[in-house]
Amino acid sequence: MSASPATVSPVKVSLTGIKPTGEPHLGNYVGAVKPALQLVREHEALYFIADYHALTTVRDPDLLRHYTRSVAATWIAAGLDPDRVVVYRQSDVPEIFELNWVMACMAGKGLMNRAHAYKAARDRNQEAGRVDADAGINMGLYNYPVLMAVDILIMEADVVPVGRDQTQHVEIAADIAGSFNHVYGETYRFKIPQAVVPAGETGHTLPGLDGRKMSKSYDNTIPLFCGEAQLKKLVRRIPTDSTPVAEPKDPDASHVFQILEQFAAPEVVADTRLRLQAGGMGWGELKNQLFEVLNAQLSPMRERYDALLEPDSPLDGMLAAGAEKARKRAIPVLAQVRRAIGVA
Ligand code: ADP
Ligand code: TRP
Repeated sequence: MSASPATVSPVKVSLTGIKPTGEPHLGNYVGAVKPALQLVREHEALYFIADYHALTTVRDPDLLRHYTRSVAATWIAAGLDPDRVVVYRQSDVPEIFELNWVMACMAGKGLMNRAHAYKAARDRNQEAGRVDADAGINMGLYNYPVLMAVDILIMEADVVPVGRDQTQHVEIAADIAGSFNHVYGETYRFKIPQAVVPAGETGHTLPGLDGRKMSKSYDNTIPLFCGEAQLKKLVRRIPTDSTPVAEPKDPDASHVFQILEQFAAPEVVADTRLRLQAGGMGWGELKNQLFEVLNAQLSPMRERYDALLEPDSPLDGMLAAGAEKARKRAIPVLAQVRRAIGVA
């Protein structure tokens, strides 16, 4: 059936959740921040800092506060306009945690056993030869997919842009929503969400300082907003081979070039590619070029970021305003669920 010309297709809601477990690095920017910022063009976009999700691992209160502000400041410095989109902290929306219980009662335990974050933690225990495969695993990690489902469902999101590793969690959210709808669908139905893997995620994994994927877990990152001197130092540390300056080089095998590709203008990338292939361009020169490109692009963002991290900056007010907008969405959903299940 085709839509009649009079039908206006409603704007889809997209929801992005970011766990504040560290200071953002270049890989996060390329793989997550940049692609998610594009969503603003075609969606009603919501972005939240999943601070209660970080509690499964971050146990230092000052650090959790710092990472939460750092992640929020990063997104705003990178171009998110809190007046146009909704930016909030998960912990500022208490409705999420009430719905969390309701949805836990809809979620099969077997579904949680199969969730990959939990399975990966068990595998690590088994590989380490521990007798108890659940050693060191808290219930927060185990229940994490339920809370993530609620994050999504309570905001009635249509699409959820996530890294590949998170698509299973969005499928679990759809599954839990389906269970609820099956029982209570006559009174209230959750929207069934869909995961989308941003283009940046499919093709480009940024290498880190040791050539492996840039990741906090490998301690091989270039922080997005480290100072200029530190940035220069870290770029110099990216490994290269010992091909002499005069020899032709394979750009695609170079970690430095792979990073340059993600930040420099296409003409600059094409020109550098040719120069490397022709011979005569050394790794030192390539690293200087990468530093210049990164610094030119990141400096204005870094200034905004540093200003937002000041104790009395507008950041906290922005998050409070965002929480108010987010709660306007969450409150009516929870009220309908409460009626549907029989507690109101
Ligand atoms: P980390 O590996 O540093 O802990 P996360 O797992 O918190 O990073 O990832 C947050 C987001 O950043 C995800 O969407 C992920 O796909 C993206 N991301 C992380 N590292 C990279 C990378 N090296 N290249 C591209 N994207 C990345
Ligand atoms: N689990 C996601 C991660 O580790 C973060 C997250 C929590 C999330 N809740 C979400 C992402 C809801 C999208 C939607 O990166």
